[in-house]
Amino acid sequence: MHKELESFFGLEGKIAMVTGGAVHLGFDAAEALAAAGADLAISSRDIGKAKKSAALLSEKYGVEVLPLSLDQTNPQDVSETFARVMKWKGRLDILVNNAGGGGPAANGNFLGNSPANIAALIDLNLTGVIYCCREAGKIMAAQRSGKIINIASIAGILGRDRRMYARNGMSGQPVEYAAAKAGVIGLTMDLAGYLSPMGVHVNCISPGGTKGPDSKLPPGFVTDYADRTPLGRFGEYGKDIKGAILFLSGSASDYVTGQNLVVDGGFSIWH
Ligand SMILES: NC(=O)c1ccc[n+]([C@@H]2O[C@H](COP(=O)([O-])OP(=O)(O)OC[C@H]3O[C@@H](n4cnc5c(N)ncnc54)[C@H](O)[C@@H]3O)[C@@H](O)[C@H]2O)c1
Repeated sequence: MHKELESFFGLEGKIAMVTGGAVHLGFDAAEALAAAGADLAISSRDIGKAKKSAALLSEKYGVEVLPLSLDQTNPQDVSETFARVMKWKGRLDILVNNAGGGGPAANGNFLGNSPANIAALIDLNLTGVIYCCREAGKIMAAQRSGKIINIASIAGILGRDRRMYARNGMSGQPVEYAAAKAGVIGLTMDLAGYLSPMGVHVNCISPGGTKGPDSKLPPGFVTDYADRTPLGRFGEYGKDIKGAILFLSGSASDYVTGQNLVVDGGFSIWH
């Protein structure tokens, strides 16, 4: 690779953190960062999973990977986890704020849902993301540099076609998830303005539906979804998010902040 391209995408000497980095999209983000040469911390609620993925990445890419346990709905835990990263390397250049999703509180029955369930989903997908931005923001503002990448979703920019879910026997898609992910996109824009005088970039990525080979999604849903997608397929773990992560982590994106990079095979253009 030409040296100029290496300077755009190479991350040697950088320190990164990926929340929920042990599996799926978080693992993909961690793998892209490790392949580009960054040392990184990966967190999971399950420290055993974090240790396993950390060992795999450090062996494959020859970088240092620190496994951490983190429940991002607990602000004390978030502060202590970022403090551990600082104790480890003394800086943080990149945060991929990835943890989120349905979780045990996901309930598609909005009209019958409980306040506790609603709050739990918002806590995981929005408030926890804000806590992580705040801790990373403090560190990066003091450094006068850093890149925060929040993982939102196309659910934050589009309503779902619920007919497609209903005809495939799926109903458990909570509207609170969409509300939280739209919040992450708003957070990204306003926080980018707040932190840009301090040298910190904030962007987000909105993936479309993405799955692995062991997915339990009904085959009819996967076919319907692929048919609604200009590129004709579902997103895949292991590859589709990596390029966007590298672009927003490296100096290639030094003039980009407050943006929402949609990685959905074009799904959102047909709505
Ligand atoms: N897969 C998709 O179709 C898709 C589409 C759009 C957006 N996303 C978003 O991408 C991100 C990763 O999704 P995924 O597909 O890899 O899902 P996943 O369920 O496999 O991963 C979610 C991650 O979040 C972590 N997590 C859950 N609760 C947590 C908590 N309280 N504290 C800390 N970590 C917690 C999990 O341990 C896991 O690592 C999520 O934010 C999700 O909303 C996924």
